[in-house]
Amino acid sequence: MILLLFGPPGSGKGTQSAKLVERQGFCQISTGDLLRSSIREGTTLGIKAKSYMDNGDLVPDEVVIGMVDGVLRQKLHAGISKFIFDGFPRTVEQARRLDGLLEQSGLKADEAVFIEISRSELVKRLTGRRVCSSCGAVYHVTTSPSKTDGICDKCGGNLIQRSDDQESVIKSRLDIYDSAALVLRRYYEGQGVARVIDGNSSVEDVYQRIISKNTLGP
Ligand code: AP5
Repeated sequence: MILLLFGPPGSGKGTQSAKLVERQGFCQISTGDLLRSSIREGTTLGIKAKSYMDNGDLVPDEVVIGMVDGVLRQKLHAGISKFIFDGFPRTVEQARRLDGLLEQSGLKADEAVFIEISRSELVKRLTGRRVCSSCGAVYHVTTSPSKTDGICDKCGGNLIQRSDDQESVIKSRLDIYDSAALVLRRYYEGQGVARVIDGNSSVEDVYQRIISKNTLGP
């Protein structure tokens, strides 16, 4: 089962992926998380990606595709075949290359879910988001705060604001998403797997909308 989760920055892809992992046993592949961990580890890939990410720009296709190829091969080798892709693909080139990678293992995208949401809500979510610098858990200062201010409930790590969650960078990230989303939606409509859901409600409501299709099941 291959689920692709699309949505603008702050639409809840990471939040929903965490639920799908916990409740449905998916394995999450988040290119944003992978890139951030490469930056933390100071790898060549991380050094290359950092300036793009800090400015809200997309990291070049070849860098991201190579990274996904490596991780996907590793997971498939470990016998995993139920994946959520969060934040990938972001360009048609990435989508084509993902199709190729999946095909090599007899897999294909089963569902491409596009979360739609108002811009004002996105800005509220992104400016209030805090993430754990150790385990990556996601919080929000008003809608899902940690029990102790600034400390992760799960691992005790420090909560920080992502460098690309500054208002000046947020606008550019949202514009980049808008210009790519329609093309990607058409691409997956062409495969008969695209589905659009409303993301303007509670985490649980959005989760129910994602799993509402028979293929995912409750
Ligand atoms: P990435 O990490 O993928 O970021 P993004 O797409 O910008 O998405 P976000 O992580 O910002 O938001 P989200 O939708 O996961 O929301 P979340 O669940 O955290 O990418 C970052 C950068 O990496 C890119 O800009 C690019 O540079 C690079 N990159 C990544 N992939 C790439 C690729 N394939 N190609 C090229 N470059 C790539 O929720 C947000 C907040 O809202 C949280 O505080 C949460 O608690 C809250 N929240 C969530 N749901 C709800 C709800 N229903 N109600 C109220 N609050 C909610």
